[in-house]
Amino acid sequence: MVLFKSVVAVCLATAALTVAAPASDAHSHHHKKHVVPGKYFDHFMVILLENENYKDAVADPYLGNLAKAHKGNLLTDYYALTHPSQPNYIGIIGGSLFGFDDDDPKTINEKSIVDILEPKGLTWREYAEDYTPGPGGACNTNTSLGDGIYMRKHNPFISYSTVANNITRCQNVVPATQLYKDIADGNLPQFSFYTPNMNDDGHDTNLTTASKWVQSFIEPLMKEPKFLQNTAVMITWDEARVYTIPNQVWSVIIGDAVKPLAKNSDNTRYDHYSILATIEDNWDLDNLGQNDVNATVFHW
Ligand SMILES: *[C@@H]1O[C@H](CO)[C@@H](O)[C@H](O)[C@H]1NC(C)=O
Ligand SMILES: *[C@@H]1O[C@H](CO)[C@@H](O)[C@H](O)[C@H]1NC(C)=O
Ligand SMILES: *[C@@H]1O[C@H](CO)[C@@H](O)[C@H](O)[C@H]1NC(C)=O
Ligand SMILES: *[C@@H]1O[C@H](CO)[C@@H](O)[C@H](O)[C@H]1NC(C)=O
Repeated sequence: MVLFKSVVAVCLATAALTVAAPASDAHSHHHKKHVVPGKYFDHFMVILLENENYKDAVADPYLGNLAKAHKGNLLTDYYALTHPSQPNYIGIIGGSLFGFDDDDPKTINEKSIVDILEPKGLTWREYAEDYTPGPGGACNTNTSLGDGIYMRKHNPFISYSTVANNITRCQNVVPATQLYKDIADGNLPQFSFYTPNMNDDGHDTNLTTASKWVQSFIEPLMKEPKFLQNTAVMITWDEARVYTIPNQVWSVIIGDAVKPLAKNSDNTRYDHYSILATIEDNWDLDNLGQNDVNATVFHW
């Protein structure tokens, strides 16, 4: 059933492109990647915002109603891993903090999600706002770009040597504007990680600004058939703002692949390692032998 749905979706996307862009259809058709069907979803995007307590985010009028408005689920008992920011990002794609507890540049000689996605033919991308790749698409390991609006600490792929030292993989670490081209081309990656800049994610601004950014970003995507291709989008926060309270953060999962629970609430306890566990379960991937192994898979 899932397979059938994916094949139909790809055909529809191709047909739409034929109408919209006849001149380039032959090329985009040949470049289109094969979609590997998953148990729960065919595409997963995770978006990380910065530094907010669960109770404050859920009280925001837009965010507080987002799961219900899009027939998804609010995760009411979901936790970040640690403080400060960077180790949370590293842990989400690597399954461990690897002993790190700060925001300084790291070089990690360990496996990440990339190493288990690629053997199964699954495409992935990091979309980073205000990121500029190095020459030929090489990884730009600068700690900060665009007057500090892009920060390397929020782009965890750069910290893993198996990505940073491999230009083919670096070419999947792209400026966020590339997302709209990928969607139009029918090439939405099966796994994507979206890093808003320091204003949009709330880090240098506030909760209201982050909420307005989420609205402006997510509402058009939730109306875009080329994005809703059996897709799940998770929006979460890297960590709570206050260090002395439990590290609970607001998270929602929405999209056409999501099955809403009663009251659009999933009350199971999860943490950031559940993201890896769910992706591994969805596509029957190997695991990383880290905290992904025993993390709780999201209800589907
Ligand atoms: C990265 O940083 C170096 C050293 O500050 C600078 O020369 C270079 O232009 C930066 N690269 C980009 C793409 O901003
Ligand atoms: C670089 O990445 C590509 C694409 O993932 C992979 O096929 C290749 O084996 C990698 N090269 C090295 C030296 O790891
Ligand atoms: C958040 O920032 C915006 C833009 O600077 C400002 O207009 C608004 O009052 C701030 N909201 C709060 C709650 O501080
Ligand atoms: C997972 O849980 C099992 C059973 O409690 C334990 O033996 C194992 O060491 C755990 N694995 C990891 C990687 O934490």
